[in-house]
Order: sequence, then structure tokens, then C-alpha cells
Amino acid sequence: MNKGKFITIDGVEGSGKSTQIDLICSYLQRKSIDVVRTREPGGTDLGEKIRSLLLDVDNKEMHSDTELLLMFSSRNELIQNKIIPALNKGSWVVSDRFTDASFAYQGGGRMLDLNRISKLESWVLGEFQPNLTLFLDVSVDVGMQRVEARAAKDRIELEERAFFERVRSVFIDRSKSYPERIKLIDASGSISEIHNNIKLFLDVL
Ligand code: TMP
Repeated sequence: MNKGKFITIDGVEGSGKSTQIDLICSYLQRKSIDVVRTREPGGTDLGEKIRSLLLDVDNKEMHSDTELLLMFSSRNELIQNKIIPALNKGSWVVSDRFTDASFAYQGGGRMLDLNRISKLESWVLGEFQPNLTLFLDVSVDVGMQRVEARAAKDRIELEERAFFERVRSVFIDRSKSYPERIKLIDASGSISEIHNNIKLFLDVL
């Protein structure tokens, strides 16, 4: 049995990830690929409980290191209990966010040392990496306008604009550092333009 492929989608808030993930999953299913969709933080029963802690506005005093460790705790559950078993069965896994988000949000946004995050990455992931990461890039202005239109903001969405500028800048840096894996997708266009662009990368996986 062939091993499946692991695809992750990331970006600043309001980059249109959910819509594009819907389209990616349908596209792969039309090609008769078995798709497991998941998200971070979360994606497992325990991970979803960790997600609630992370996004709860009542936890605004949470220390940045605690936030980082909880992200990786949720990630470990997801990798061990969901992603690896699915890939071993030949399914493809599509995750709404993954480790690049920890570098961007906790490293960029919270300004934690990127080397410490790399150590955690090695500890939890070893050599394991996505086959493809799509970074949906929109300006922070556009992203924040879309978030403003939503109901209530979560603990991280309440951060100031400069935080999200730092997040975006780390995503851009990482797409330059890992061009084979991370593809920067201009997410300012129409839904179908963005999807057509993404399909080019799915077709060569
Ligand atoms: P979502 O808005 O895409 O559902 O993601 C939840 C929030 O969690 C989002 O603000 C980004 C943040 N996040 C991190 O700060 N670090 C991480 O490692 C991950 C996976 C998400």
C-alpha cells in the first residue's frame, strides 16, 4: 500500500483557508483519493480540548511558552493518533494549519526564540514534515477586515495589527527558506483563481 500525502494550509487570519480547504478536499475526492481533513490546534478529542483552552478569551494571562507547549501537545496527539495512522493506510491528510503556524504566531507574533521552537519541532516531529504546505497570503488589512465581519473574536484574534504583520512576515520568510515544501499562494484574488493556482501544486504531488 502506498503511503498517503500530507498537505497543510496556513496563513494569517482571514486568508480564506476554510473555503480553499473545502475545494482541495473535494478536488482530491474527485480523483478517488481518500481524504482525512483535520485542523490545528485540535483535530483529536484531546486536541480540541486543548484548542478551547488556547482560544478562550478568559485565558488572556496565558504565558507565551505555555501557549507554545500547548500547540505542540495538541500537535503530538494529532500526529501520533490521527495523521500517521491515516498516512499509513494510504489516505491523504489535509490539515488546516501545522507547525509553520507555531513559528509564525509564537515565533513571529509572540517573539519567542525561533531556535527554541525548532528544538520542539525536532522533539515532537523528528524528520516528519508535510509533503506540501500552502501558505495563503493576504495583506493584514484584508485579513483583519474579514475577521471583523465574523461574530466574536478568539484570544489570538484579539491581538493588535503589529502582531499579525510579524506573523505574516515569518510565513513569507519560511516560504523562501523552504521553497520545495512551502508554496506562497496570492490569496487576494477570486476563490476560483486561488483554487486553480493550488491545483497546479496538488497535481504534481
Ligand atoms: P484558526 O483560526 O485557523 O482556526 O487557528 C486558531 C488560531 O491558533 C489562529 O489564531 C492561529 C493560532 N495558532 C498558533 O498561534 N500557533 C499554532 O501553532 C497553530 C497551529 C495555530
